Amino acid sequence: MNENEIETVEITKKYGGETVVNNLSLNIPTGSIYGFLGPNGAGKTTTMRMLVGLIKPDKGSICYKGGDLQQNKRAILKNIGCFIDTPNYYPHLTGYENLKYIQEILNMSIAEVDRVLKVVNLDFAKDKKVKEYSLGMRQRLGLAFSLLNDPDVLILDEPTNGLDPEGIYEIRNLLIHLSEVEMKTIVVSSHNLAEIESMASHIGMINQGNMIYEGSLKDLYESTLDEYTITVDNPEGVKQILKNQSISFSGQANQIVVKMSQDEAAQLNEILVNRGVKVFELTQSKKTLEDVFLSLTRKRSEA
Ligand SMILES: Nc1ncnc2c1ncn2[C@@H]1O[C@H](COP(=O)(O)OP(=O)(O)O)[C@@H](O)[C@H]1O
Ligand SMILES: [Mg+2]
Repeated sequence: MNENEIETVEITKKYGGETVVNNLSLNIPTGSIYGFLGPNGAGKTTTMRMLVGLIKPDKGSICYKGGDLQQNKRAILKNIGCFIDTPNYYPHLTGYENLKYIQEILNMSIAEVDRVLKVVNLDFAKDKKVKEYSLGMRQRLGLAFSLLNDPDVLILDEPTNGLDPEGIYEIRNLLIHLSEVEMKTIVVSSHNLAEIESMASHIGMINQGNMIYEGSLKDLYESTLDEYTITVDNPEGVKQILKNQSISFSGQANQIVVKMSQDEAAQLNEILVNRGVKVFELTQSKKTLEDVFLSLTRKRSEA
C-alpha cells in the first residue's frame, strides 16, 4: 500500500500578511486512516478546506489519484465526502428530510438516505427534527452527509469535537469500520492526540502551519526515545554509574528514570548486572502521542 490517494505539494495559504499554512506537503496513502494533528489554530481546517476545493492555496498543488484538483475538480469532488465546519442543517426538518433534500438537489438515489442513516446509527432518530438532536447526533448526521453516494475518500474535520467519551468511542469505531470494511481513505483531524492514536494508521502533525512529522505511527514511536523506569537495590551506586557513562536520569527513592532506546536499555541492564546491582524491575513507560508531540515541537523550536 504505497500508493497515495492524496498528495499536496508545498501548499501555502496566507491570510492578511500571516502565513497560516506553510509549504505543506501531505502524503496520504490509499486506504489509510490519516490522523491530521495539531493544536488549535495550527492550520488544520484551512488545509482541509484546500483539500476539498473550498479555498485555493496561494501556492502549491493538490493532487488526487484522479489528477490535479484544480483541473479535475468536478470529477474528483464527486468521490470525496467531507465534514468541515459545523454542518448547516434545516433545524425544523428531520434528519431524514435534511439528507433527502440534498439527494434531490444532486439528483441522486433517495435510497441512499436510509443506508447512510443506518451506517451512522441514526436510524432510530431519522424522523426527529434536527433541532431536537444532541450534539453527538448532529455530528453523526454530518458524517451521514459525508457518506452520501459512497465516496472513496472522507475528509473529516474534528468530527469528535465536543463529544463525550461515549460519542468519541462511537465515531472512532465507525471510522475504523469505514476503513476496514468499506476500504475508504479517511483524513481525520483532531487536536486530541489520544483520540487519533487509537485509530490512525498514519499521521501528519502540524504546528503553526508547518509539518513537524509525517509517517506511520509505528515509525514515529520507534524514532523517539522511550522512558524506562529502573528499580534497583542500590540507587546511589546506579546514579554514579549513570553519571560515569554520561547518561542523564531523573527519578526518586529507588526508582530511576532514563530516556533511551530499547537497545540502550538492554545494554544498561547488562552493565548494571555486571557491576553487581540487583535490578528488580526495568519497565518501559507507554509513550503517548502527547509526549511525542511535545518532544517534536521542542526539538523544532530548539533547532
Ligand atoms: N478566513 C480566515 N481569515 C483570516 N484568518 C483565518 C481564516 N481562517 C483561519 N484563519 C487563521 O488561520 C489560523 C489557522 O486556523 P485554522 O485553520 O482554523 O486552524 P485549526 O483548524 O488547526 O484550529 C488561525 O490563526 C486562524 O485565526
Ligand atoms: Mg479547525
